[in-house]
Amino acid sequence: MSREWSQSLESVILGRRTVHAFETAKVSDDLIERAIDVACWAPNHFLTEPWKYYLLSDKPKAQIIDMNYRENLTNKGARFAEVKKNRWQAVPGWLVITSKKSANEKEEQENYAACCCAAQNLMLFLWTKGVGVKWTTGSIIETSDFANIVGFTMSAEKPIGMFWYGYPESIGKQFRQPLKNVLLKV
Ligand SMILES: Cc1cc2nc3c(=O)[nH]c(=O)nc-3n(C[C@H](O)[C@H](O)[C@H](O)COP(=O)(O)O)c2cc1C
Repeated sequence: MSREWSQSLESVILGRRTVHAFETAKVSDDLIERAIDVACWAPNHFLTEPWKYYLLSDKPKAQIIDMNYRENLTNKGARFAEVKKNRWQAVPGWLVITSKKSANEKEEQENYAACCCAAQNLMLFLWTKGVGVKWTTGSIIETSDFANIVGFTMSAEKPIGMFWYGYPESIGKQFRQPLKNVLLKV
C-alpha cells in the first residue's frame, strides 16, 4: 500500500462530517449503488454478510414522515411536529441498513459490528464523491410500523439506522478528545 494512498484515506476520514442540511439536488441511484457495493467489503466474521440496504422511494419516505409526524403531534405538539415534518421532507436521499439477527447473541452482536463497518465504508466513499450522510437512530426505527413500511421482517433483521444523504448545504465542525485521553499504553 503506498504512503500517498494512506494519507489520502486519512484526510477523508478526518474530513468526513455528519451532514444535517442538504441541497435539494438528488444523488443518482448509480452512485448509491456503487457506494453500497463498496460498503459490502467491510470485515464480517464467518462471512455472514449480515447487511441489507433498503433504498427508499417517495412512497415509503412519505409514510415514515407521516408516521413520525403523528407521533410528534401526540407527544410533542403541533409546532414541533410541523418543524420536524418540513425538515424530514427536505432530505433528498433515504437509505435504511439492517443487520441480520441470530439465535446466537455473539453472532448477532458481531453482525451489528460488521454493519457499522459497512456504514462507515459507505459514508466515507460517498464523502469522496461530495455526498454527505446523516446516520440517524430515532426510536421510530425500532417499531413494527417502520419495518412494515420499509419491508423487512423484525424477527430476522434489525435496523442499524436510517441514512439520510445528499449534497451538503453546510458542513459543521467537530472535535475529538486528544489521544492522551483515549490511548492507554499498558
Ligand atoms: C450509531 C449512530 C447513531 C447516530 N444517531 C444520530 C441521531 O439519531 N441523530 C443525529 O443527529 N446524529 C446521529 N448520529 C451522528 C452523530 O451525532 C455524529 O456522528 C457525531 O455528532 C459526530 O459527528 P461527525 O459524524 O461529524 O464526526 C449517529 C451516529 C452513530 C454512529
